[in-house]
Amino acid sequence: MDLTTRYMGLQLKNPLVASASPLTGELDSLKRLEDAGAAALILPSLFQEEIEAETARYEHLTSAHDDSWPEGLSNFPKLPETQHGPHQYLELVRRARQAAGVPVIASLNGVSNEGWTTYARQLQQAGAHGLELNIYFIPADLTSTGRDVEQRYLDILRSLRAAVSIPVAIKLSPYFSSVGNMALALQDAGADALVLFNRFYQPDLDLTRLQVLTDLKLSEPSEIRLPLLWLAVLSGRTRASLAASTGVASADEVVKYLLVGADVVMTTSSLLRRGPGHMATLLAGLQEWLDAREFNSLEQVRGIMSQCKLRDPQAFERANYIKILHGYRAPDRS
Ligand SMILES: Cc1cc2nc3c(=O)[nH]c(=O)nc-3n(C[C@H](O)[C@H](O)[C@H](O)COP(=O)(O)O)c2cc1C
Repeated sequence: MDLTTRYMGLQLKNPLVASASPLTGELDSLKRLEDAGAAALILPSLFQEEIEAETARYEHLTSAHDDSWPEGLSNFPKLPETQHGPHQYLELVRRARQAAGVPVIASLNGVSNEGWTTYARQLQQAGAHGLELNIYFIPADLTSTGRDVEQRYLDILRSLRAAVSIPVAIKLSPYFSSVGNMALALQDAGADALVLFNRFYQPDLDLTRLQVLTDLKLSEPSEIRLPLLWLAVLSGRTRASLAASTGVASADEVVKYLLVGADVVMTTSSLLRRGPGHMATLLAGLQEWLDAREFNSLEQVRGIMSQCKLRDPQAFERANYIKILHGYRAPDRS
């Protein structure tokens, strides 16, 4: 069975990728993920704020009599104790490269293009096979227009693209007015791959303590529907590779994502719930599904249910939405 695939210019032995999480931040679990079949590993993100804080610290140490330092320090948000400062992160990339026989992709997480893209060069020198860019940005400033937000994404990507020669992927938000058009703009700005989608962590309220809850919920399979829709629409219409991310629990979700055209399928929640060995279960399930239908390569199934291949392309559009609403039957409560 030929499960090979190409992702952001890299040849992978299969389409299963471990997305950024604490599991990819430790050499022991990285190795276990690779042993269980992960074809590429995305390291947890290094945050722009961590890089800026280190740069400010360095500037303070090298500039004598700098009275502005205490003030300067307060400009940085208080960061939780993270596993990886910039130095440790470079070390993680080097050690992951030495330990793993599959591509290792570093991840940068930021909100502007100032002061941190040069750091990307050091990640490349440390041996990263590629970079994944995660722009986690909530436009809470009500004067920001949609165009401003899009421009921010494009500016950051262009700076990063200019800084490195290794492939760059961008983990996309689903909250654009025109997701498809934005995907093409990012591709034209140099993205080698689009990851659909970044999962925004949304707060809830604690009604007893009247506090904002910011706890982290792992994903559920029902969440594949939004990435599934956009992968189906974009498949066959971009030069950039497409990665499916969010909601994979079993091989069923992996197969669905491949059918709509994903080049790779990423997972984190399933691995955090079941351990790194779950990668082997997903891989076995994918092979079993393909075997049972006498497919002998991934290429034979990839994208066969994407919008441009379906006989009824409206299945992914408004006409189907109307049909779904009209077809709804309330549950029998008698
Ligand atoms: C505990 C935890 C840590 C994560 N850390 C990162 C990170 O550092 N960078 C990043 O881009 N995504 C991070 N993610 C998001 C995952 O990479 C992934 O995009 C998200 O969990 C959705 O995929 P899933 O449904 O397979 O879990 C993290 C997710 C979890 C649960």
